[in-house]
Amino acid sequence: VKAKLWGGRFAAATSELMDKFNASLPFDIKLMPYDIQGSLAHVTMLAQQKIIEPAEAEKIKTGLQAVKADLEAELAAGKLNLSEAEDIHSLVEARLTAKIGPVGGKLHTGRSRNDQVAVDLRLYLRQQTIDIRELLLDFMQQILVLADQYKETIMPGYTHLQRAQAISFGHHLMAYYFKLKRDYERFADALKRINISPLGSGALAGSSFPLDRNFTADQLGFSGITANSLDGVSDRDFVLEFLAVAANVMLHLSRLSEEIILWNSAEFSFIELADQYTTGSSIMPQKKNPDLAELVRGKTGRVIGNLNQMMITIKGLPLAYNKDLQEDKEGLFDTVDTLKIILKLYPEMLKTMTVKTEAMVRAAKTGFLNATELADLLAEKGIPFREAHTIVGQAVIAAAEQNKELEDLTFAEWENILPEKINFSLPELQNRLAVKAAVNSHATAGGPAFKEVSKVIAREKLFLAD
Ligand code: ARG
Repeated sequence: VKAKLWGGRFAAATSELMDKFNASLPFDIKLMPYDIQGSLAHVTMLAQQKIIEPAEAEKIKTGLQAVKADLEAELAAGKLNLSEAEDIHSLVEARLTAKIGPVGGKLHTGRSRNDQVAVDLRLYLRQQTIDIRELLLDFMQQILVLADQYKETIMPGYTHLQRAQAISFGHHLMAYYFKLKRDYERFADALKRINISPLGSGALAGSSFPLDRNFTADQLGFSGITANSLDGVSDRDFVLEFLAVAANVMLHLSRLSEEIILWNSAEFSFIELADQYTTGSSIMPQKKNPDLAELVRGKTGRVIGNLNQMMITIKGLPLAYNKDLQEDKEGLFDTVDTLKIILKLYPEMLKTMTVKTEAMVRAAKTGFLNATELADLLAEKGIPFREAHTIVGQAVIAAAEQNKELEDLTFAEWENILPEKINFSLPELQNRLAVKAAVNSHATAGGPAFKEVSKVIAREKLFLAD
């Protein structure tokens, strides 16, 4: 017979299949340490408010610690039977009562599983958010190291996946640094709303006992208490917010992964991923596949799915608690676990990849990435930019017809292309068209010029060292 917290009103036992369907222990067992932590704070408060005797509270606390130790040992040994109780709250109370006798039944005074589960989930998510932010910082650190190393490695920058203008690999990597930095900040913001205590909201209407909600909130390290008991037990925005930020991280990593996969292809050949983070084919002996990056791109779908599922779960729910809310856990746990393993693996993949700097520069030198430089030069010489644009378009056609780059055109060819009124010399044109000069002339704040990228990197080093 399963441990139940609500047998009193029932004459007949629940059907076995119903028990199975109703149960959440197989997944909410993850909340065990947080459930115990919440109960310890609650029982301390009950004694302090003279709702129960100090000796009773001591007995319950010792019992809870022992239950925790038992459950940890059983979990580690793979011996815990997950059909022993309906959910983690029932399991802990049943084990407690078995250990210390009926006094264990006093633990739930002034509390409902509705506020209890909300507390557990917030404690869990607070810890996960803190851990994930740490992992994000390490990731950002790794990007910064690479960006510093490759800030002068010229590569093509793209729009429409067409070569557009020359940039550096370091500059490209720093774009991802800032995307992740915003996610790091988003998690901090979400944390403000995660870290609020709903304990004392009861089932939905608070309690007739003189509970000290601020005391339990303090004990549990929450920064405040929820202001409305119905909101306290029905709110899952804090889960949604976390899932949305997690999805955003995955979107960023999915875009990076798409680039990694392209760069690692023979067609680009900009990087080569290390053996440790690639896998082979069972039939094609030559294959070395970028599975990590592909899986990150693929798992982005599931993390977005978890966000979607949670929004759909919430959308039709009347206040306050409804059993639908039990569906808030598995997707959340899945997102947390997915994100954590990815944030551990990804920096390692980046750290161990070989960057083929020659191939990058070569690609930046072909395909007229310096056409805009020439148009800028003509505009500097007084030709309206729109007109300059058309002239350079002509130059591109002339060069392409001969399978040449702009810098290979001869003085005579330039004379044909450029308007008569323009004064120019071949070295002047060629200097301006040189790829390194082109990158370095883009010294606007936030631009790819080596000096500018160095400045940005130095600033972010300080941020990370802080
Ligand atoms: N297992 C439940 C959940 O995860 C705990 C709360 C149950 N509350 C209730 N009134 N049945 O949401």
